[in-house]
This record gives sequence, structure tokens and C-alpha cells, in this order.
Amino acid sequence: MQLGVLFAPDPDCICYTRKSRELFGQNCMHHTATQQTQQDIVSIRGLTKRYAGKVPVDAVRGIDLSVERGELFGLLGPNGAGKSTTIGVCTTRTLPTAGTVTIAGLDVVRTPAMARRRMGVVPQYNTLDRQCTVWENIYFHCRYFGYTSTTANRRAQELLEMFRLSERAKSPVRELSGGLAQRVQIARAIAHQPEILFLDEPSAGLDPQSRLALWDSIRQLIRQGITVVLTTHYMEEADALCNRVAIIDHGVILISGTPEELKRSVGAQKVIHLHLGSENNPQLQPRLTALAGIKAVEPGKDGVRIFVDSLDGLLPKIIEIAGPHLKDVSIAETTLETVFIKLTGRDLRE
Ligand SMILES: Nc1ncnc2c1ncn2[C@@H]1O[C@H](COP(=O)(O)OP(=O)(O)O)[C@@H](O)[C@H]1O
Ligand SMILES: [Mg+2]
Repeated sequence: MQLGVLFAPDPDCICYTRKSRELFGQNCMHHTATQQTQQDIVSIRGLTKRYAGKVPVDAVRGIDLSVERGELFGLLGPNGAGKSTTIGVCTTRTLPTAGTVTIAGLDVVRTPAMARRRMGVVPQYNTLDRQCTVWENIYFHCRYFGYTSTTANRRAQELLEMFRLSERAKSPVRELSGGLAQRVQIARAIAHQPEILFLDEPSAGLDPQSRLALWDSIRQLIRQGITVVLTTHYMEEADALCNRVAIIDHGVILISGTPEELKRSVGAQKVIHLHLGSENNPQLQPRLTALAGIKAVEPGKDGVRIFVDSLDGLLPKIIEIAGPHLKDVSIAETTLETVFIKLTGRDLRE
């Protein structure tokens, strides 16, 4: 919802009386509450980022995105898609070339310091202070955000307990495993009690067990009322964790919705990949398309991709049509990967 609408005077609101305005200021409690519950916590409009240089790079090319409070929102895309740049602008690390971003109603370019108070950030690479212990990293972060020594100490203890890090309080962070370091980064990022947490590729490089532990921590933050925006190039992560996903490629949002909506958009429940020899058979695609039960046939890497709802009796017919050039067949359920393939013709790892 647009801020302008929320701030528009509402004659039916009890706080529209002069007395209440004197009591509560221009934004009376009622309007502030409305704003808190209804306003998108992240609003990205027409965001563009061009990195200057001999060969300028258009990393983000006109993105519009909204994230509601309480969401676990995922930005899914391959390497180089523009995810970190988008997060970089949202978190005031990178200036946009054009467009606007507001966090909790605060413009990140005009009021970066105020916006930073409302958000926590875990960047793609470990930014813990390697000279400090786990406890010091959290404690100094709190002090930086204006906490008194006593409150910062209390908050650091609280977070160490919450993230099961108490035993590591005195460990230098350089001695931590990737999974533990990631936990400290998240604990530090939320130490000043932000409303929203940005996680850039939080599980990249983690072993499967640490990844599951990380997912649990993220879900716990959501239960505590923190909004989470994460980027990932793992479609399983976006699918398993996020309530809403936007797929980004070459700086453009291709589609967004719940994982279920995205998968439904493919219009088929399974995808069959035929790996074929180099010889091109122009008859192949039309003959396959003509088969009953086949929803779509598209050229794919080393062959074709066939979209179907059910395999029921189809495989022998497909194999017969593919003929002697067929090298291999693979069949997969529709996933977010399929959505990406359908939209771009490539898979996320290509
Ligand atoms: N500081 C920079 N200077 C120039 N080009 C950059 C810079 N940072 C990123 N890029 C380029 O911008 C594009 C998007 O990068 P990035 O936002 O890091 O994507 P992702 O996080 O999805 O991998 C890539 O082509 C990358 O090489
Ligand atoms: Mg990145």
C-alpha cells in the first residue's frame, strides 16, 4: 500500500480532530498503527543500478518489488542476476542509479542512517571483526547503535543464548566454522532489534546440516515478528523456506508469487528432458507436440524439454519418436528450477 494513501487525512478517524492531533502529533497513534500494519516494509520502485567503468554494467534494470511485514521473502536467481546489488541498495551500501527504495517508509538514499536503524544485514561475505570474540562482535554492534554498556551486555547475553552460542562467547570468530560464523552474523545483525533482516546468500558454502540449522533460525525470527528478505541461488531453499519468491535474471524480475503459484505457472507437473545426439531432427518437435498428453515441447540444453502432467503411457511413444539419437532421458517434478527454465531456457546453474 502506498504511503501517501495512509497519510491522507481521514475525516472518519477519531484522530482527525484538532485535540487528538495536538495530543499525538500529525501522525496520531491510530494512523501510526495503521501504517505499521498495512504499509509494505520494503518498497522498491523502478530500481536501476549501472556500475560505471570502461564497460558499464547494468546490474539492475528497473525492478519493482514490495515486501509485506512478517513475510519471509526470497530473491532467487543465478550468479550475476543482480541480487546482491538489489540488497546493497536496500541496505544503503550501494547508491541506486535511478528509482526509489523505502524501508519501513524511510527513503534509503535520503535518510540512510534512520533506515539502517530499522534493518539488520548479513552480507554475502563474512564481515565479523576477526580480531574480536563472538561476544565482542555483538556487544560492540549494540554500542554502535547507542545501547548503554549495561544494556549492550544484557542484549549480547540474550542473543548468545537464543542462538546457542553461549559456550563460544569468548572464542575469537576466526576460529569458528562456517555454520557458527553465520549464526553469529545473524545474531549481530538483529542485535539492535531491527524490524527487517536482509540475508544475502545466507546458506552459500554451508554443509547440509548447518543449512537446516540456519533455516530453523530464520523461521524462529519470523515467529518473533521480524520480516526476512533473503537472496539465494538454491531453488530448494527458496521453495522450502520462503512464503513468497521473486525470480530475478539479468537485473530483471521475471515472476513473483508464492512457490506454489510459481510452480503452477508452468502449467505442467513434470518435465522430461531428452538428451539427444548432435544431429538435428526438424520433425522431432512437431511430432512430440502432436502427442496427446504433452503440454509443451521446448529446445533445451543438448536436446528438448517436454512438459507433461502425467507419464501415463507416454514414455515408449516419446522414445520411439526420439529414435536412435536419444542418449539419455531424465524426468523431474516441476520445481522452481522448472519455472526458471521455462522463463529463460537455461537452468539456474548454467
Ligand atoms: N562493484 C561492481 N562493479 C562493477 N560491476 C559489478 C559490481 N558489483 C557487481 N557487478 C556486476 O553486476 C552484475 C550483478 O552482480 P550481483 O548484484 O553481485 O549479482 P548476484 O548477487 O545475483 O550474483 C554482475 O554482472 C556483476 O559482475
Ligand atoms: Mg550475490
